[in-house]
Amino acid sequence: MDLKNFKVVANQKIRDCAFAKLNAEVNFVNWQDKKGRMPKEQLYAELETADAFFSSGNVKIDEELLSHCPRVKVIAQASVGYDNIDLAACSSHNIPVTNTPGVLVDAVADHTMALILECARNIAGADLHVKSGTWGQRKPFRMGVDLAGKTLGIVGFGDIGSEVALRAQASKMNVIYHNRHQRSDDAERKVRYVSFDELLKESDFIAICVTLNPSTRGLFNQEAFAKMKQGARLVNISRGPVIDSEALYDALASGKLAWAAADVFDPEPIPGDHKILTLPNITLTPHMASSTKETRDAMAMLTVDNILAALKGENLLTEVKTR
Ligand code: DGY
Repeated sequence: MDLKNFKVVANQKIRDCAFAKLNAEVNFVNWQDKKGRMPKEQLYAELETADAFFSSGNVKIDEELLSHCPRVKVIAQASVGYDNIDLAACSSHNIPVTNTPGVLVDAVADHTMALILECARNIAGADLHVKSGTWGQRKPFRMGVDLAGKTLGIVGFGDIGSEVALRAQASKMNVIYHNRHQRSDDAERKVRYVSFDELLKESDFIAICVTLNPSTRGLFNQEAFAKMKQGARLVNISRGPVIDSEALYDALASGKLAWAAADVFDPEPIPGDHKILTLPNITLTPHMASSTKETRDAMAMLTVDNILAALKGENLLTEVKTR
């Protein structure tokens, strides 16, 4: 089937492998050689005559953007998260949405485990200590804590949460979890289902692996921090707004939390003068948990395959339920 009559738009540079495939198969309006993102006005103008949208970089997909998509057959988002998309609006415009579940699970679970280790051992701080030349001065350096024998509470036990559990168990941690529903394979996975409050009370480390939705927005607030163990350690790889940033600041500043490590934050990117950056007991990475070459290629190719399926009138590979 010749797809060259179909126009596909991308709002920023995409992975080379995905660019090569789309460029060969469709009329691909891209931003490949330019920096940043296609300006909004230009994007809206291109979408007026587009058949598909390759969406990346958290562009806001709302009623305003959709009103410029009269013939778009799919919004293919190159990430697993889609909190930038108004699903109800897409549904009312009859535009299906796809995302990239599955292919990033190992990369994100690895990064989560790295942040759990960071909360225990502060490798980032140790690196700075050595590179700033202070090793030889025998200045006291913060001592870490063991993972073995500690309880890790995982909030959100889907594909990523369960892979984090395997990695934590390899470090001899006990794993408990909270999820919307208890899974049927807890015994096999050697994990224990608990209520959210029990998880807060029992965990030495907590890893947040939920999606952002109305029930998880602000889930970690003052009240939740108050229920946690004194000196608990918190990792967030989900979305920033799951944690109330003010409450996190207070919990870290007061010592209620011994350490936090997060790949996501509210707001994102964090302004360079944000007060949380002055705290010694937080480690932050710039929303890069899925950022390995193999995983980003796989995410981009799955996005392309969803677009091509939509243009051919075939079943979408990974459609997000919009209603
Ligand atoms: C995702 O895919 O949602 C990850 O957060 C990377 O953007």
